[in-house]
Amino acid sequence: MSPESEAPPRKHGLLPPRHRTNPMIWCAAVLCVIFSLLLIFAGIVTLIVFLVIKPRNPLFDTTSATLNSVYLDSSAYLNSDLTFLANFSNPNHKMDVIFEYLSIELYFYDRLLSVQALQPFAQRRGESRLESVHVISSEVYLPPELIMELQDEVRRNRVVYNIRGTFRVKVSVGVGHFSYWLYGRCQIELTAPPSGVLVARGCRTKR
Ligand SMILES: *[C@@H]1O[C@H](CO)[C@@H](O)[C@H](O)[C@H]1NC(C)=O
Repeated sequence: MSPESEAPPRKHGLLPPRHRTNPMIWCAAVLCVIFSLLLIFAGIVTLIVFLVIKPRNPLFDTTSATLNSVYLDSSAYLNSDLTFLANFSNPNHKMDVIFEYLSIELYFYDRLLSVQALQPFAQRRGESRLESVHVISSEVYLPPELIMELQDEVRRNRVVYNIRGTFRVKVSVGVGHFSYWLYGRCQIELTAPPSGVLVARGCRTKR
């Protein structure tokens, strides 16, 4: 036996004496570990739920539209009457949604013509819903170049309007649920009023 093995380094005189860890610190450490595990668990569950359910955004579309009137007052103020059918659809196979808030704006170029709110509704998986929207704009000021453009479009029998929808959508997954904003855009092309009909449309919905 060598003399070194009889004197283990632990017995070095500079080491402080061992003292017991405060139970509060133990408790905090255990809580921390439990909390971290819960977070990881929640993350994994969310991931699995998303992989299984594959959530998709509801869609906003314009099915038909009628341009009832376009009338220019004093060559600067627009009065317009448009009716359209909005088609809201929920393409999810395993998820119901609730449209909690719906606002629809009508634009001619970048000019806001009218704002319309719709009643909230719930939508089951795979369902689509048609909402008739009547948009009346009255005495909306348009700058001269837009007045000329609009007169030109009416003369050519092609009036282009833009519809912008802002929606708050609530999704329920099991016991959990979350809400997010969804934006629908449609550019619609109509023949001249009265009873101008929808001849073309381009719609997209994004978050
Ligand atoms: C509404 O949209 C859904 C999904 O795109 C479609 O299947 C359905 O035919 C549309 N309804 C109408 C009336 O266009």
